[in-house]
Amino acid sequence: MSAETVQVELGDRSYPVRIGAGLRHEALAVADRRLAAGQRCAAFTSPGVAAAQPAFVAELARRMPVLVTAADGETAKSAGELARAWDFLAAQGIARDGAVFALGGGVIGDLAGFAAASYQRGVDFYQLPTTLLAMVDSSVGGKTGINLAAGKNLVGAFHQPTAVFADTDLLATLPPREFAAGMAEVIKHGLLADAELFRQLQANAPLAWDHALLPAVIRRCVEIKAAVVAGDERETSATGGRALLNLGHTFGHAIEATAGYGTYLHGEAVAIGLVMAARLSADLGRCTAAEATAVAATVRAHGLPDRLRAPLPLAPMLAAMRRDKKVRAGKLRFVLLQGVGTAVTADDVPEDRAIAAFVAGGAVA
Ligand code: NAD
Ligand code: GLY
Repeated sequence: MSAETVQVELGDRSYPVRIGAGLRHEALAVADRRLAAGQRCAAFTSPGVAAAQPAFVAELARRMPVLVTAADGETAKSAGELARAWDFLAAQGIARDGAVFALGGGVIGDLAGFAAASYQRGVDFYQLPTTLLAMVDSSVGGKTGINLAAGKNLVGAFHQPTAVFADTDLLATLPPREFAAGMAEVIKHGLLADAELFRQLQANAPLAWDHALLPAVIRRCVEIKAAVVAGDERETSATGGRALLNLGHTFGHAIEATAGYGTYLHGEAVAIGLVMAARLSADLGRCTAAEATAVAATVRAHGLPDRLRAPLPLAPMLAAMRRDKKVRAGKLRFVLLQGVGTAVTADDVPEDRAIAAFVAGGAVA
């Protein structure tokens, strides 16, 4: 078992992100130590993971109760599933010294993480990401939460995991469409912080789960995210900071909310959002038109949509954008590309330029 560690440096809330093949067994050893110390543990997973990884889910279930969410995908990040999670933790007698294990993609990590953040005012939780998206992004940084009909992630808490175990073996069963969705967040990391990573992604498309480069790519994304989170854990920086990780997300969240959750996978909406953000950046003279074209080509090369599959109306997308959590003092906040490898926040983007980017990506008035 070869594994690497990236440390997220947050003072007394620092934690390791372990990346490599076979790390699920290391997570089980952690559980065994806690259980031996008399600390009750519980795990959450999704129907998709329970079906695809029955042997490992059985290993977990031999040690602790496992709740499989009733819904799968984005609709599981709901108030109903959260209440079910709280009831489950209470019924299993999980106490303040107990721990929650989140085995799944970003949906399970966000849902179980928020249950852990709020149950008994906060218990420990471990992330065992099973999607590429969760390994490179959602399992790191402590953002947890659920969706409302009014928008994505509108209720939640910052609650850092105690450790993250990213076992790359688990990616073997991930459906190709879900793997591609994770590549959107990988491409995002290259665009916002590492031009060399973006060049690697251009040269090695499409990457598969067993590509020799993948562990290093995951590690680089985690390093980028860990550094950003260490500098601005709660996204309070006046400029830049953690908001930069939302490159493509202002557009992407608006697409998800308007199309209806589940129509586009989160990563697919982000991919279209990255292209819209790059076009907007080129329109505003922040990056070149050639760079925006390269973003669209790279997104396509990794099996992702670079524009809406079917037209969506502009008005609800603009309304969703105005509800975005990045709105400050009533002003829309965009993340723009200042050339490949550098991103900046901007509060002064004229709305008509954002509308032009939406329309170029397939929105209709
Ligand atoms: P997901 O959690 O819905 O998982 C995708 C699908 O794949 C599900 O059906 C799941 O059951 C299945 N699956 C997962 N792992 C599998 C495996 N190894 N084998 C077979 N099937 C498997 O989707 P996602 O893309 O991982 O996460 C998207 C969510 O993450 C969104 O809700 C998004 O808002 C959130 N997110 C959160 C953060 C954060 O910082 N907290 C960052 C980015 C995204
Ligand atoms: N994915 C955005 C963040 O973690 O801040």
